[in-house]
Amino acid sequence: MSFRQRIPIKTAKEIERMRVAGSIAAKILHEVAMAAKPGVTTGDLDALSRELMRQHDCKSAFLGYRGYTGNMCISVNEEVVHGIGGPRRLLPGDIISLDVGVVKSGFIGDNATTVAVGDIPLETKRLLAVTEQSLYEAIKFARAGTKLADLCGAVEEFVKPRGFTIVREFVGHGVGRRLHEEPQVPNYRPQGKSPTLMPGMTLAIEPMVNAGVAGVRILDDGWTVITEDRKPSAHFEHTVLITAGEPEILTDRPRLAEPEMLGLPAW
Ligand code: MF3
Ligand code: CO
Repeated sequence: MSFRQRIPIKTAKEIERMRVAGSIAAKILHEVAMAAKPGVTTGDLDALSRELMRQHDCKSAFLGYRGYTGNMCISVNEEVVHGIGGPRRLLPGDIISLDVGVVKSGFIGDNATTVAVGDIPLETKRLLAVTEQSLYEAIKFARAGTKLADLCGAVEEFVKPRGFTIVREFVGHGVGRRLHEEPQVPNYRPQGKSPTLMPGMTLAIEPMVNAGVAGVRILDDGWTVITEDRKPSAHFEHTVLITAGEPEILTDRPRLAEPEMLGLPAW
């Protein structure tokens, strides 16, 4: 069976709605990221995202999804993804992964970033820079005619030689009317036959990278994913449209973890 029948291709009108959803998701994520300062609680950030979604007349794509209770995902330090905002107060030296998905006019934009709270250790700066860049390495392969496996492999092939590990239990995904559509987009090269990317496909590409071991477990809240060794983890995500030409990042926003911005040497 061909993959291409199962991967939704968006029409021009649907793409226009994806652009709107993506740009709102990006704006909200950027604003929440700017508010992640020492002394703020993760619940404050969740409440801010809820207020911004109200202002933009859109809804959280996560709230209520399989019983998820947050408006966005907020994951601190060793938390990988799917953390839920609450009374925890941010401290200098923390890193915080923020994941915002919104529904607008029936279409979803999904994006994530990880930011430093105050000053963080050099090795953690490297973790952020490598994870952000691995997302952009993958996006270079988000082109019509490319094999999905090459896009996925680009993440692993950038991260591995730099000494960090890839989370394998959670993956990126197609996104559109539904949060999770075909295909799955792992952050490592998948085995076997791989679909060819085509114009009109919209993918959420989302590397999750650990400072220590790759293994993860889920906390008793049933959602929060943490690293097995409790070392920090980073997560960056964009919703990307495959076009006849260049990749179009539907959730485009200012980068915050380029090496130069963190005082690290360029690649
Ligand atoms: N960006 C994540 C994903 O696409 C966020 C999902 S959180 C959930 O899987 F609560 F909606 F599951
Ligand atoms: Co996602």
